[in-house]
Amino acid sequence: IYCERELLCCYILAVSILYFFIRMYGLTVKGSSVGWNQTHHCKLLDWLAPDQSQLCRRNLELMHSIVQAAKLTKNTCQNTFNDMRWNCSSVEKAPRFTPDLAKGTRESAFVFSLAAALVSHSIARACSSGELPSCSCAPAPAEQAGPDFIWGGCGDNLRYGLQMGSAFSDAPMRNSRSGSQAFRLMHLHNNAVGRQALIDAQETKCKCHGVSGSCSVKTCWKGLHDINHIAMDLKSKYLSATKVIHRHVGTRKQLVPKELNVRPVRESELVYLVSSPDYCTHNEKHGSLGTQDRQCNKTSNDSGSCNLMCCGRGYNAYTERIVERCQCKYHWCCYVTCKRCERTVERYICK
Ligand SMILES: *[C@@H]1O[C@H](CO)[C@@H](O)[C@H](O)[C@H]1NC(C)=O
Ligand SMILES: *[C@@H]1O[C@H](CO)[C@@H](O)[C@H](O)[C@H]1NC(C)=O
Ligand SMILES: *[C@@H]1O[C@H](CO)[C@@H](O)[C@H](O)[C@H]1NC(C)=O
Ligand SMILES: *[C@@H]1O[C@H](CO)[C@@H](O)[C@H](O)[C@H]1NC(C)=O
Repeated sequence: IYCERELLCCYILAVSILYFFIRMYGLTVKGSSVGWNQTHHCKLLDWLAPDQSQLCRRNLELMHSIVQAAKLTKNTCQNTFNDMRWNCSSVEKAPRFTPDLAKGTRESAFVFSLAAALVSHSIARACSSGELPSCSCAPAPAEQAGPDFIWGGCGDNLRYGLQMGSAFSDAPMRNSRSGSQAFRLMHLHNNAVGRQALIDAQETKCKCHGVSGSCSVKTCWKGLHDINHIAMDLKSKYLSATKVIHRHVGTRKQLVPKELNVRPVRESELVYLVSSPDYCTHNEKHGSLGTQDRQCNKTSNDSGSCNLMCCGRGYNAYTERIVERCQCKYHWCCYVTCKRCERTVERYICK
């Protein structure tokens, strides 16, 4: 356990940051559809770090975006890892923290960076869709417009998203109660990596004008890529994440890569402090659920293959009947009729 000094510090950390997002999610699924339009709603978040509580009161209008980001973080993490041994399901266990997320693992690096990216993403999008009184479309980019287009339209307000998003994501990490300094540095770094992935995910989007789609005039703006694009980028950073240690470099203690070749940590790499188990077998102490009964793919070679997913234990096959609508026909006007088709598919489940 990284918080070797006091077990409690992991716990405090747990209720403060990630669980901030996850419990926001809990609040929304419990059906208590909070309006987030009165400051006393912030009291619902009594487990928030004091800084975040103040942020909530001062920026009440952002809370919808943050709740949205919490949901997206959970769903996106699970979709991105559904073919991996660690499949992000422990996010749902909150507020009971499992060690795969409470320790400074590679998996927690991914989840934190994703949450940081998606909070800023949600806010930037909320600005451009006119949901927030405090911001609107991004100003036109500083770079020169091309020969065939002009800047116009409504860009996602990345700048505002980054500014407010980092206030929310980083606030708890600036509080010395949230675990060891190494732990806080790790997550601050990974939050920044998440936001950098968001910055890199800007794309120029255009709209044609002119007589019947002739596109003689084009307006363009900078928009953000969709969330899956960002998640895949962070997943590849997760796969190549760097193990770091906290040690003196000159007079200050910093995170540096654990291998001997001394170089600073790069802005583009996710970092972690604690090695993860292989997640093959059930082990609560390590936060590993194991892959028994997980579905696997017999024909693929990648992480979802039966070979890798089942860790060499083999798999059981069974067949499943699927009933679906098929041979659908459109009738003028306006309805669709379909037939019911049955087919059987082979499924494979890890032993
Ligand atoms: C707050 O939001 C709720 C639900 O959206 C609404 O019913 C209520 O009137 C709002 N209250 C104020 C003070 O705007
Ligand atoms: C993730 O893995 C766990 C443990 O094997 C399993 O119980 C759960 O159903 C899986 N979740 C998804 C969404 O595949
Ligand atoms: C899987 O790997 C084998 C051997 O490396 C290769 O021949 C085969 O084409 C691969 N299959 C797929 C689906 O990538
Ligand atoms: C299994 O993997 C193959 C090759 O990657 C892919 O074409 C196929 O759709 C996968 N099957 C399932 C059920 O996901």
